[in-house]
Amino acid sequence: MTSHAPDEPIGVAVIGAGYWGPNLVRNFQGSPAFHLRWLCDLDVDRARKVLGGYSTVGVSADLDEVLADPGVHAVAIATPAGSHLPVALAALRAGKHVLVEKPLAATFEEGRQLVDEADRRGLTLMCDHTYCYTPAVLRIRDLLAAGELGELHFLDSVRINLGLVQRDIDVVWDLAPHDLSILDFVLPPAVRPIAVAAHGADGIGAGRACVAYLTLQLSNGAIAHIHVNWLSPVKVRTAIFGGSKRTLVWDDLNPSQRLSIYDRGVDVASPEELGDEQRRDILVSYRSGDMVAPALTEREALRTMVEEYARAITTGTPALTDGRSGLRVLELLQAASRSLAEGGTMIKLSEGHTA
Ligand SMILES: NC(=O)c1ccc[n+]([C@@H]2O[C@H](COP(=O)([O-])OP(=O)(O)OC[C@H]3O[C@@H](n4cnc5c(N)ncnc54)[C@H](O)[C@@H]3O)[C@@H](O)[C@H]2O)c1
Repeated sequence: MTSHAPDEPIGVAVIGAGYWGPNLVRNFQGSPAFHLRWLCDLDVDRARKVLGGYSTVGVSADLDEVLADPGVHAVAIATPAGSHLPVALAALRAGKHVLVEKPLAATFEEGRQLVDEADRRGLTLMCDHTYCYTPAVLRIRDLLAAGELGELHFLDSVRINLGLVQRDIDVVWDLAPHDLSILDFVLPPAVRPIAVAAHGADGIGAGRACVAYLTLQLSNGAIAHIHVNWLSPVKVRTAIFGGSKRTLVWDDLNPSQRLSIYDRGVDVASPEELGDEQRRDILVSYRSGDMVAPALTEREALRTMVEEYARAITTGTPALTDGRSGLRVLELLQAASRSLAEGGTMIKLSEGHTA
């Protein structure tokens, strides 16, 4: 491992200067914890354009040249998912800490190789599940952990818009990593997905599902439903977390009120509370309390994510979205793909899903 001096910024290289890479470049350059040394892309002109004419950051199309630099202690990979395994493995084998864009790899088995390699070498492996670092999702996680919503009964997540039809992946692999990583991140440790089913359609003949519905069974009996869609003329980004005490509505497209917590719901009296007469009918009552909209500070998620990468590297402790969380998301994606291929069968997850 090429370790950096504790009081000096961590030398970092970004690999991939396409659509997403420039966002990483900007945030590493803005972070005092890092010193951006290289931007590497097979297309060097593209990388040069991202940095601008006056930059002193190195540009290269040659990953080996970048990894040979002893001043590089960490890399961040924003290349297409199919190249995550070879690029990340090369970086880990060169002793560098690794941040990989979602999804961690193209398959669960490839992701497992990365997690094992990082473990063997004692290096940080982190997956950029960007949404987990938004103020809204961090707050949802805190609220669930503090029991503010009670026990989770259902999640209903919608992520639809006119999306770029991808050439190599379907809508599940393109969009659902966001919802699945959020679910993985906010669920209390005792509640885990145990089975997944997926239904999809390719109405435009793109050769892959462009609309899909995922249903997840959770270990506490709750249900999660995720709708991802590239064909919707309207953009919707909402998630409803229904709890036994309160229900939270997250509308990511409403910056003045992203979160709303409703003290409204349905209560069913437990059998012990009922007399013999009542026991024959279920006693349902409706709560109609206040709605509260928690104030959230606006902060770019990638800034928090980059800080978390630095924290994980300097402390040697797992990142909030470490390689294992990337692996759990891959297991869910792979099970969803299997279910799609089998016409929607419910696929049970391995016992090791909590790994
Ligand atoms: N976190 C998020 O919200 C978010 C959003 C968009 C994309 N992404 C992820 O970012 C990654 C990149 O997506 P994109 O949309 O920027 O792709 P893109 O196709 O726009 O850019 C990829 C770049 O990587 C370069 N590249 C490919 N293989 C390379 C290699 N072996 N070495 C060096 N450079 C290489 C290409 O030349 C290209 O410039 C994907 O994993 C994607 O899922 C994440």
